[in-house]
Amino acid sequence: KRVVAFISGGGSNMLALARATQAADYPAEIIAVISDRPDAGGLSKAQALGIPTFAFARRDFDSKDAHEAAILAELGRLSPDILCLAGYMRLLSGAFIQRYEGRILNIHPSLLPLFPGLHTHQRAIDAGMTEAGCTVHFVTEGMDEGPVVLQGTVPVLRDDTAETLSARVLRVEHLLYPQALLQLANGSVRMEDGRTVRPLSR
Ligand code: GRF
Repeated sequence: KRVVAFISGGGSNMLALARATQAADYPAEIIAVISDRPDAGGLSKAQALGIPTFAFARRDFDSKDAHEAAILAELGRLSPDILCLAGYMRLLSGAFIQRYEGRILNIHPSLLPLFPGLHTHQRAIDAGMTEAGCTVHFVTEGMDEGPVVLQGTVPVLRDDTAETLSARVLRVEHLLYPQALLQLANGSVRMEDGRTVRPLSR
């Protein structure tokens, strides 16, 4: 399966996906990386692996529609089967999502539906959570909504700061996202009527 990863930042999850998918028996490969930020640190990491990168700065476009149209045009050329949002800090429009319905994954560093959106780690600490984690989910129209594919958990320690907790969660993210992509790529999970379905035949 052909996968395009979307990033806005350091791209460590994209890198974890790229490395995992290089295994000979992995049923997907990262064929390109798209960023909404030309200065995203992950772009050079992708290039170092020989993965083509495309940057579409939002400020170069008059509207969200025009920005997405440019990205969709590039996707038309790349013809991916699956899109993996990996720290992509923009909400995709409903029209965009429908175009790739059931074929877009996102990773979020909380145990959704808890703590969607920003500052998740601090909010988990402030809420007194003893467990935190990360979620890979199908992308639907709401932010950090959509049916769950996989979750991974870590303990919240007494002295945790947002920084120490996020580092612990990030290590799990790097294991979880390649597993979730594997399941979507090999057909052992799919989205149907807004739900996650796992055919019993696998
Ligand atoms: C990760 O924590 C991801 O879950 C969140 O943004 C962060 C991106 O980190 N959505 P990276 O760019 O993959 O290093």
